[in-house]
Amino acid sequence: MNIQIEHRRASPAEFRKLRAETNWGIPTLDTAKAALSASLCGVIATSGKQTIGMVRAVGDGQLNIYIQDVIITQSLRKQGIGKMLVKAILSDLSNTCPSSCKIGLFAAEGQREFYERLGFIARPDIGFGPGMHAMLSNLVDPNLATAQDAA
Ligand SMILES: CC(C)(COP(=O)(O)OP(=O)(O)OC[C@H]1O[C@@H](n2cnc3c(N)ncnc32)[C@H](O)[C@@H]1OP(=O)(O)O)[C@@H](O)C(=O)NCCC(=O)NCCS
Repeated sequence: MNIQIEHRRASPAEFRKLRAETNWGIPTLDTAKAALSASLCGVIATSGKQTIGMVRAVGDGQLNIYIQDVIITQSLRKQGIGKMLVKAILSDLSNTCPSSCKIGLFAAEGQREFYERLGFIARPDIGFGPGMHAMLSNLVDPNLATAQDAA
């Protein structure tokens, strides 16, 4: 198979198609467009006319960058394409961002080793607490916001 690496962000349609092959949900077209245009950069893999993989990076480009949406089409996983994409985006970032930048990510369940092989270390580890996340809706108390707004 002839796999090409393209140093560009996925289009909203490519992004939505690949997200459909995960269990993370498919963003609406508007959300996909906004998320991609706010991303720092991206890399995709194609085979013929098909987009078979993507990765994007978000962050401030100076201190903290996060790798997001590393997705390879289901039938082509475990063939080295994911590794190729992550290495390509890290190489692009190394050309535009200070080498002191911290690169973070949240590994999906079962994918820790994939990232460890690329040089990432899992948290918690000596000197590091756990990575944490929550949905914004679960962090904001709507009743409190209303009371504060009215005051
Ligand atoms: C995770 C994912 C991107 C990996 O891409 P891939 O193309 O299948 O992985 P690669 O073939 O490039 O694997 C690179 C190396 O990691 C290893 N590896 C890949 N997935 C692994 C896993 N889940 N556990 C252990 N090792 C794994 C491979 O064996 C390979 O090892 P090698 O370098 O010694 O040959 C892909 O499986 C995928 O799209 N999964 C669904 C979406 C997802 O969970 N993305 C990650 C979000 S955090």
